[in-house]
Amino acid sequence: MKRIVVLISGSGTNMQALVEACQAGKVAGQVVAVISNKAEVAGLEKAAAAGIATAVLSHREFATRELYDAQLQQLVDSYQPDLVVLAGFMRILTADFTRHYHGRMLNIHPSLLPKYKGVNTHQRALDAGDEEHGVSVHFVTEELDGGPVILQAKVPIFADDTAADLQARVHTQEHAIYPLVVHWFCSGRLHLSAAGAVLDGQLLGPAGYAED
Ligand code: GAR
Repeated sequence: MKRIVVLISGSGTNMQALVEACQAGKVAGQVVAVISNKAEVAGLEKAAAAGIATAVLSHREFATRELYDAQLQQLVDSYQPDLVVLAGFMRILTADFTRHYHGRMLNIHPSLLPKYKGVNTHQRALDAGDEEHGVSVHFVTEELDGGPVILQAKVPIFADDTAADLQARVHTQEHAIYPLVVHWFCSGRLHLSAAGAVLDGQLLGPAGYAED
């Protein structure tokens, strides 16, 4: 069983979906700890209710991003993870931190990358008049929201959608695809090569795995 550490900043619904998938035997791994940079978020309560170790490391107590990330790295490593899963962890990471977890850290981002890196992705897709939107799971590299995409899920945008409608539709897809990608990693089917993400020996393209 691979050891997974999940980093969150908020509601933790992706973390919970992953925990439930692990408990149901759908992922060849177990979540050994959930770490948040914010205290009193709902995700911490959900993790504790599931019997998982939790920790809070507030970025407000550190003078620089470098000092925070160094301490975070120590905390994460104290759980000896095989994989680090960013699940709504709303921090920009230092290059040192991303390099330390190169090839063993995943992120989920609520857009069809490379579109809409950064924040407010749902509103930006609406403002652009897009007809579809979605979510991407990718390996984390130094470039913000820029690492190789592994899997995307698309959702339609309807004429009367608000950002909240779109967020809810995307969330449902997130909960389906993130545990699947984590399972691919934990079962040895997925890794990061110098050329990009590799699944079952096949180098994935810019949109990640796609069924024809
Ligand atoms: C998710 O929609 C995730 O894609 C997004 O934060 C939300 C967390 O929800 N992540 C990012 O925006 C990262 N840039 P959750 O706490 O309910 O899992």
